[in-house]
Amino acid sequence: MRCRIATTLMTKFIIFTDLHMVPDGTTIIGIDPYRRLANGIAHVNRYHADADRVIFAGDLTHHADRASYERLKDLLSELVPPAAVMLGNHDRREVFLEVFREAARDENGFVQQVIDFPDCRAVLLDTLFAPPYDYPMSHAGHLCDRRLAWLDRQLGSAGDRPVLIFMHHPPHASGFAGIDMIRLINEEQFYGLVKRHGNVRHIFAGHVHRTISGSSRGIPFSIFKSPVHQQPMPFDIADASLSVDEPAAYGIAVVTPDGVLVHTEDYEIAKRDAAVA
Ligand SMILES: [Fe+2]
Repeated sequence: MRCRIATTLMTKFIIFTDLHMVPDGTTIIGIDPYRRLANGIAHVNRYHADADRVIFAGDLTHHADRASYERLKDLLSELVPPAAVMLGNHDRREVFLEVFREAARDENGFVQQVIDFPDCRAVLLDTLFAPPYDYPMSHAGHLCDRRLAWLDRQLGSAGDRPVLIFMHHPPHASGFAGIDMIRLINEEQFYGLVKRHGNVRHIFAGHVHRTISGSSRGIPFSIFKSPVHQQPMPFDIADASLSVDEPAAYGIAVVTPDGVLVHTEDYEIAKRDAAVA
């Protein structure tokens, strides 16, 4: 299925990040992550069934327990477009892989993959800084030498395709003091590699639970809100665990002949919909 505007074929991505699935009967600050995501999947099926990939950009679960991964897997089976899943700091790679046995991974077992489309190459990174799961250190992101070498190869073999990178941890500051303490810790290595290849057109991330856009080292980025709890606005709170109940959201990215369009969809805000009689 392709996104078609006029006569041009363009790749469309839907991006959900920070799902924080919990076991049945539990909530996060009174929010039910299952219901929020179920509504989001129904919304995508209704409005973006033509998406080329729906990317779930890490923090799939809140406590990395098997029951939550199984609930998530059940829910993803309702999604019409094809899905791709990534890991975040709230995930545990080996528990995830016990449930998502078919998940794509690289030759070293990291949950990262490359997906080629006619007009772009999508590179999905595994920035989970573990094992060992040494909290709070492992809430920060890390790309070890093996993962950087893999990324080097994917950027080097992209040919003429522009590259879009998807990663849970932003590789740059977000402006939120608490979150910035646990961003990707080796951003200089990451950007050194990216800038050397010169073919990355956009970086998509999660982790912050806020809608943020801008650029770093000349490369545009987009960060999306969670379907569940969001980051409180004060920039200077040195605590990454605070949350606020705001509407759920997902991102939409469309590759165009001259760039990338990025939208955010706060899918539970609408009070009335002209598409409904
Ligand atoms: Fe998160």
